[in-house]
Amino acid sequence: MNELLRVENLEKTFNMHHFGEKQIVGCNGISFALNAGEFIGITGKSGAGKSTVLKSIYRTYTPTGGSILYQSDQFGTIDIVQASERQMIAIRKHEIGYVSQFLNVMPRITAIEVVAEALMEMGKNEYDAINQAKNILAHFKLPDSLWDSYPRTFSGGEKLRLNLAQAMVKRPKLLLLDEPTASLDDASKESVKEMIIQLKDEGTSMIGIFHDIDFMETVVDRQYNLLNGLLRDGLSI
Ligand SMILES: Nc1ncnc2c1ncn2[C@@H]1O[C@H](COP(=O)(O)OP(=O)(O)OP(=O)(O)O)[C@@H](O)[C@H]1O
Ligand SMILES: [Mg+2]
Repeated sequence: MNELLRVENLEKTFNMHHFGEKQIVGCNGISFALNAGEFIGITGKSGAGKSTVLKSIYRTYTPTGGSILYQSDQFGTIDIVQASERQMIAIRKHEIGYVSQFLNVMPRITAIEVVAEALMEMGKNEYDAINQAKNILAHFKLPDSLWDSYPRTFSGGEKLRLNLAQAMVKRPKLLLLDEPTASLDDASKESVKEMIIQLKDEGTSMIGIFHDIDFMETVVDRQYNLLNGLLRDGLSI
């Protein structure tokens, strides 16, 4: 089996300079490997470091120890902990998608432009990008009356569905999902699940955090528990 990502002894400690030399441990001693095409669910209680692990892989946080070996299309085997900012920008643009637990501050462009621009960054022409953007917004049941609106005023669930559309429309090689169903009703959760299954069929590997464990167990292949560091089989789709 092809290994896509190997996290080894990952550590992120925050130095809180405003409070003397106080340090906060975000995560520590995290080791697991993700195979190509696989979906791992990360579990652990609130504050255990789940989001910190995903942010370290996306390099929103720079880890303070360990390594994250990733098989990049552009750079070959690369340690994300050591990668340059330029390399990370290229990897985020073309290879790794991320849906944040807390909604992104949305730029002053319309919903459809948010999604179409993600595709144009990948090299799609504007006509195809807009068509694909419409398809995925329809899939996530974002009312078409909102497509030409600024997302700033969207409800929490509408923003989340737009974030999901923006990340998933790229068919990234690796997708990081931080509570992607948190404020969604059952119908919206179902469209997230359908899209996860579709991306998985197309070969996207994923790491996800879900507070809805029942939902998680229907989509992941394995679960990694942050507290005890154990990987165990999840129910496979
Ligand atoms: N930017 C930061 N600065 C300081 N401390 C941080 C920062 N980000 C996270 N932490 C701390 O790191 C620990 C892990 O946080 P993290 O957000 O990863 O937890 P989590 O498992 O995702 O929790 P939740 O389930 O509530 O989302 C917490 O104690 C948190 O306060
Ligand atoms: Mg979190």
